[in-house]
Amino acid sequence: MDTMEGLHRSQYCAEVSEADNGKEVVLTGWVERRRDHGGLIFIDLRDRTGIVQVVASPDYEKVSFDKAEQVRTEYVLAVRGIVRMRDKDTINPKMKTGTIEIRCEELRILNSSKTPPFYIEDNIDVDEKIRLKYRYLDLRRPEMQKNLIMRHKVKHAMRTFLNEHGFIDIETPELCKSTPEGARDYLVPSRVNEGKFYALPQSPQIFKQLLMISGMDRYYQIARCFRDEDLRADRQPEFTQLDMEMSFMDQEEILTLVEQMVHYIFKETLGHDVQLPIHRMTWDYAMANYGSDKPDLRFDMKFTDITELVKDTDFKVFRNVIDNGGQVKAINVKGDADIPRRELDGLVEYVSHYGAKGLAWIGFLEDGTLKSQIKKFFGEDKLREIGKACGAEKGDLVLMIADKPKIVAAALGELRKEMARRMNLIDENEFAFTWVVDFPMFEYSEEEHRYVAMHHPFTAMRDEDLDKLETDPAHVYAKAYDLVLNGIELGGGSLRIYQPDVQQRVFKAIGLTPEEAEQKFGFLLRAFEYGAPPHGGLAFGLDRMIMLMLKRKSIRDVIAFPKTQNAIDPMSEAPSTVTKKQLHELHIQVEEDLVSK
Ligand code: AMO
Ligand code: AMP
Repeated sequence: MDTMEGLHRSQYCAEVSEADNGKEVVLTGWVERRRDHGGLIFIDLRDRTGIVQVVASPDYEKVSFDKAEQVRTEYVLAVRGIVRMRDKDTINPKMKTGTIEIRCEELRILNSSKTPPFYIEDNIDVDEKIRLKYRYLDLRRPEMQKNLIMRHKVKHAMRTFLNEHGFIDIETPELCKSTPEGARDYLVPSRVNEGKFYALPQSPQIFKQLLMISGMDRYYQIARCFRDEDLRADRQPEFTQLDMEMSFMDQEEILTLVEQMVHYIFKETLGHDVQLPIHRMTWDYAMANYGSDKPDLRFDMKFTDITELVKDTDFKVFRNVIDNGGQVKAINVKGDADIPRRELDGLVEYVSHYGAKGLAWIGFLEDGTLKSQIKKFFGEDKLREIGKACGAEKGDLVLMIADKPKIVAAALGELRKEMARRMNLIDENEFAFTWVVDFPMFEYSEEEHRYVAMHHPFTAMRDEDLDKLETDPAHVYAKAYDLVLNGIELGGGSLRIYQPDVQQRVFKAIGLTPEEAEQKFGFLLRAFEYGAPPHGGLAFGLDRMIMLMLKRKSIRDVIAFPKTQNAIDPMSEAPSTVTKKQLHELHIQVEEDLVSK
C-alpha cells in the first residue's frame, strides 16, 4: 500500500473546474467506479464534494496505469494529474465536473476495500437495518452527506442569529436527578454513591430556569435530550434540541424573536422566505377545526360542527351520541362524490383504528342527485342542509363522525389527512407554519387517575385562571405555545411560573404531596425564593426541523448514528450486556442469564 508522503491535496474533487485547465492538481478520495477501456482506464473519484473523472493510460505514466488496473470500488486513492477539457462527445452535463477530467500522472493506492454490502449511491433500496449496521458506508452516499452538511449549516445559522441577539451558550449537566414527569428516564448508576442513580436529562428545563435566576438573561444550548419512550419515525431515544430561555419578555416578544430566528435559518440555508408574522391559532380553535394540536395547514378541509343540525333526527346512532354529551362533525372532501362504495367501506375501517364506531357519508353527485347510506333516516332536505353547512357543492363528498369529542377529533382529524393524501391536496414543497397558543394547563390521565401537565408543571397560567387551579383545573389555560410545521410539532415552550407558592399549587394539582414536591423539586422551589425574574422560553426539535427542511420522512435520515425503532444501534450493538464485575462495582444485581460471561 502507498502513502501520501510528499503529496498534498490541492483541492476537493468537485472543486476542480474549467478554470484549472492545464494545471496540476492533487486529489484524494474513494473509487466510485472504474471502467477499463483496454488502453485507457477511467476512474470516478469521489469525496464529500462530489465526483471527478481520472484517466490513466500507459502513454501518460506506466506505473500508475498498472496500479489503476488493480483498483476496485471504494479503494482509497491519491491522484496527481493535469486538468484537461473533455472531448465534446464525452462531456457529461449531469456532473458538476462533467466538462473536465484529470490526466493521471501519479496514482497511489492508500487503502483497499472489501466489496461494500450495498451500492454507495442515492435512492438505494436496502433494508434500513443493513444501512445502519454499515452506517459509515451509508454516510458516504451523497444524499446522506448532504443531510449532515445541512444539519451543520442549520446549527451554524441558529448560533449566528442567537449570538447576534445577546444569547449566551451554556452547557448544563448530563448527569441529573431523576424527576420523571412525562417520558421515562434513562438511569445511570452511581458507583461511588451506592444504590443511587442519576438520570440523563429529558431536557435542560430546570437548569435553564435556574440560569435565569442567576441573571444570565438570555440562554441557549444545542442540547442532547434522552427519553425512554416508544419510538416512531419522528422520535429517537436521544435527540437534539435547540433550547432557549429568556428573562423579562412577554409571550408576544418571545414569539416574535423566535419567528425572526426561524426566518433567518430558512433564508440562510434554503433561501426560503418564511412569511412573517407566523399565523397564530388557539389550541381550542385547532382542536375544534382540525381535531389536532398540530394541524397540517398545507390544505384546508376544516371540520364543521353539525351537532345542532342533526340533534332532532330519528337516526338513533347520532341521537344516542348527542344525548350522551357527544357531538357530530363533518368534513367536506371536494370533488370526491363519485368515490366507489368499496373505498367508502375502507374509510369506515380506517377511522375505526382511531376509535370511531362508524362513518356516515353523503355524496353530492354532478347530476344533482345525492347518495348516502343514511338517507332513509334524514330525507334529502336535511342532507342538503348538512351539505350547505359544510360548504358542499355538486361533486363533493361529506364525511361525518358522531362520538365523544376526543374520538371525533382523533378519527376525523386522521381522516382529514388521509383524504388530503388521496386527493393529492398536499404540496410537498410548501412550508405551512402555525403557532398554536393558549394550551390547557392540564389534561386528565385516565391511566393515572389524575391531572397531568400538558406541557410541563413549570408552565405559567393565564392570570384570570389562577383561582380555578384547585376548583376547576380542566379549564385553566397556560401561557404555552407550540410551533407547528406541516402537521409536525417543531418546538414548544411557555412562560414559566416564578413564584414558589404558585409552583407548589401546580405540584399539588398534579397530585404531588408537599413532601414529594420537596423531595423532587425542593432545589427549584428554594431558588424561586431568591429573586426569580419573570422568564420563558422554548425548545425546538433540531432533528425534526432538519428532517422537514430536507423533506425527509424520518429523523433517522438526518442523524449521523441513530437508533432503530427498538432503541438499538445495529452497528455497535448497543445496548449490550455487561460483566458481573462491572455490575458488582455498581452495586447492581441482574438475573444470572442476563449477564455477560
Ligand atoms: P418538548 O418536550 O415539547 O419541550 O420538546 C421540545 C421539542 O423536542 C422535540 N422532541 C423530540 N424529537 C425527537 N425525538 C424525541 N423523542 C422528541 N421529543 C421531543 C419536538 C419537541 O417540540 N423543556 C421543554 C421546552 C420548553 O418548555 O422550553 C421541552 O422539552 O420537536
Ligand atoms: P348502523 O345503524 O349502526 O348500521 O349505522 C348505519 C350507518 O351509520 C353505518 O354505515 C355506519 O357506518 C354509520 N355510523 C355508525 N355509527 C356512526 C358514528 N358514530 N358516526 C358516524 N357514522 C356512524
